[in-house]
Amino acid sequence: MKTVNMENRSLVTIANHSKERILYLLEMAKEFEKKPNRRLLAEKVVATLFFEPSTRTRLSFETAANRLGARVIGFTDPKVTSSSKGETLKDTIMMVSNYADIIVMRHYLEGAARYASEIAPVPIVNAGDGANQHPSQTMLDLYSIYKTQGTLENLNIYLVGDLKYGRTVHSLLMAMRHFNPTFHFIAPTELKMPEEYKLYCKEHSIKYIEHTDFTEDTIADADILYMTRVQRERFTDLMEYERVKDTYILNSRMLEKTRPNLRILHPLPRVNEITYDVDESPKAYYFQQAQNGLYAREAILCDVLGITLDEVRADTNR
Ligand code: CP
Repeated sequence: MKTVNMENRSLVTIANHSKERILYLLEMAKEFEKKPNRRLLAEKVVATLFFEPSTRTRLSFETAANRLGARVIGFTDPKVTSSSKGETLKDTIMMVSNYADIIVMRHYLEGAARYASEIAPVPIVNAGDGANQHPSQTMLDLYSIYKTQGTLENLNIYLVGDLKYGRTVHSLLMAMRHFNPTFHFIAPTELKMPEEYKLYCKEHSIKYIEHTDFTEDTIADADILYMTRVQRERFTDLMEYERVKDTYILNSRMLEKTRPNLRILHPLPRVNEITYDVDESPKAYYFQQAQNGLYAREAILCDVLGITLDEVRADTNR
């Protein structure tokens, strides 16, 4: 049986990552973009445990594992596992740790990844825990911002939509604390950025402005426009969801006054917050953003297993 790692290399939150560490992981992602197929994880097994639905996160982690030579086990529906018979998360994690070298886990409970990382003898990668954090999404978001803007420093970043339940925006704002951003939070009152994250901004001297209007004038100064879906699955009152779900819809007409360097990001899936005519705009970047997820997640899988950037650079085998 494996023993608990003294050096816990799990990725639970981006909040612990220094600027140097973030830039290091982005460098590693760049190496994987140049050459995605390698054998760095040959003979490793990656488990993907998805207690909530996913398309991009699961498939890009599994693609990353496959492209690195690992094998993949896991589930996409907890109903077909023994958790439906009452097995606890602790027992599930301990069991899967017997089989796999890394566990990538998405769970509906906030803090589930933290808990798993404290008991597991193998690294845990948080693939989203409730409305809390989505750190691997943040790494691909940062990589996308860096690629499109040429820098992470001093950017105007507009976060639009469900800022209450959207875990991707929570992680992104924490990671950006190193890069002197100005955030604009555009949300209906019911879905505004939670106080704890505004407090985090104040504690880390992150500038932010709150808006409820979403017009072409509001977004004219944006470098990054980060649209989000209203997270139906987190609402206890579906009437409230119906009331707010279509508050903000981006269409191509709204892009007319925007900066040439503007790029539109969205963690996806989209429902109807971006109309399909926007897809034709060179400023639409959400599909490339999802593709960047492969490279960012190859870097994460290597990093949690202790494979260094130098080792990635030195690897010449396909
Ligand atoms: N961005 C994201 O988390 O997408 P999925 O829910 O499809 O994994």
